[in-house]
Formats: sequence, structure tokens, C-alpha cells
Amino acid sequence: MTVGTNEEYVDSLYVRDVDLERVKEGIRALGMPEISIASGYGRLLTLLVQTSGAQNILEIGALGGYSGICLARGLQEGGKLLSLELKQEYADVAYNHLQQAGLGEKVDYLVGDAMETLKGLAAEKRRYDFFFIDADKGSYPHYLEFAIQLSNPGALIVGDNTSMHGRVLNPAENGGSVKAMRQFNEQIATDPRLESTILPAYDGLAIARVKR
Ligand SMILES: C[S@@+](CC[C@H](N)C(=O)[O-])C[C@H]1O[C@@H](n2cnc3c(N)ncnc32)[C@H](O)[C@@H]1O
Repeated sequence: MTVGTNEEYVDSLYVRDVDLERVKEGIRALGMPEISIASGYGRLLTLLVQTSGAQNILEIGALGGYSGICLARGLQEGGKLLSLELKQEYADVAYNHLQQAGLGEKVDYLVGDAMETLKGLAAEKRRYDFFFIDADKGSYPHYLEFAIQLSNPGALIVGDNTSMHGRVLNPAENGGSVKAMRQFNEQIATDPRLESTILPAYDGLAIARVKR
């Protein structure tokens, strides 16, 4: 007989992470949505940033800074994370949490609708080595196009919540955000500019590399 899920078993192996626990407690205390990336995928973000040697990261969706800490932890000296967030109050909370984790100097926030911010970054011809997409699900296909446009050759693009708690797999679910996530997943799997995989654990995670 098994006890708990695969994810719970894996989580139980790791020691407490004080900085990430502080984020979760802060989010709860402030009544913000408890929708940070899953712990196992947070660890994966750090590993991917470290092993890819990414210097410039673009995150879409900051919330309380949980994924921001995981991303910034993987950066080498001089690396930077730019995080796009709709709400000023969330960006402030995220910044405080990164600062408390000793990572404040590695992160900048741009507040506003990410679609508008991304248009500005594209107009300025900015380029990034690593993207983490984790904001409004209905815009994921647009975020993916912007990520490819803003990518350095060989850049990694990671997107969270590819299963949307099973709604993506349910043919009875046909809301706009579910359809957009199906489109995002299909593009991740088939776009000739990308090499990719989609991990099914937790709520699903897409990982793609922009071909050189
Ligand atoms: C799932 S949460 C991000 C969680 C965060 N990445 C983490 O794991 O710690 C989604 C975030 O996207 C933000 N968001 C939603 N729509 C947005 C938009 N159009 N532009 C920028 N941010 C947006 C929300 O305010 C929220 O903070």
C-alpha cells in the first residue's frame, strides 16, 4: 500500500527552505492567491538556470516571488532577472521576499499588463536566455511567441500549469483559457523552432529550447 503522492514523497526528502517558506507564509498572511509554482518545479527552475548558464531571465507573473527566488538562485554573478507583474502590490511583495532571501540586487520588476510590456521589450530589441511563463493562461500562446521573438539562440522557455488541474484533458472544458493552454501545449510540442518536452507531474510544466 502506498501513502501519499509521488510529489509528496519527493518533497518529504528535502530539508526546510526558510526563504521559500517565508514567501508562502507572506502570501497567506496577505490573502494573496496561493498559486506559486510547485516545490519540485521550483527546484527544477534553479537547476535549469544553473546548468544553462543563463545570464538574463524574463519571468511573466511574479506573485509573491517564490519562482523569482528559485530563478535568481540559479544565476551566476552579474546575472539578472526581469519579472513582469500586473499588480504593483504583488511586485512589492515579491521584491521584499527576494531581498529577504539576499537576492534583491538580482531582480527588477516591470508593473503592468505583460502584453504591453512585452511589446515594449520587443521594440527595444531586448534579448533573454531564459523565460518563465506563469501569468494569465489565456495569453500563453502570445507569451510564447514573444518569448521566441525575444530569445537568444539556445534560450530556454518554461511554462507552468500545462494541465490546468486536468481541465486541459477534459473535452467538456472549452473556456478561453483552456483552449489557449491547449494551443500553447500544441505549439510547444510541434513548433519547428523549438525542441521540447512537457512534464506531467504537479500541474504540468513545459520546457522548450529555442533552436540555434
Ligand atoms: C500563478 S501567479 C505567478 C506565480 C509565480 N510565478 C510563482 O510561482 O511564484 C500569476 C501571476 O501573474 C500575474 N498576472 C496575471 N495577469 C497578468 C498580466 N496580464 N500581466 C502581468 N502579470 C499578470 C498575477 O497578478 C499573478 O501574480
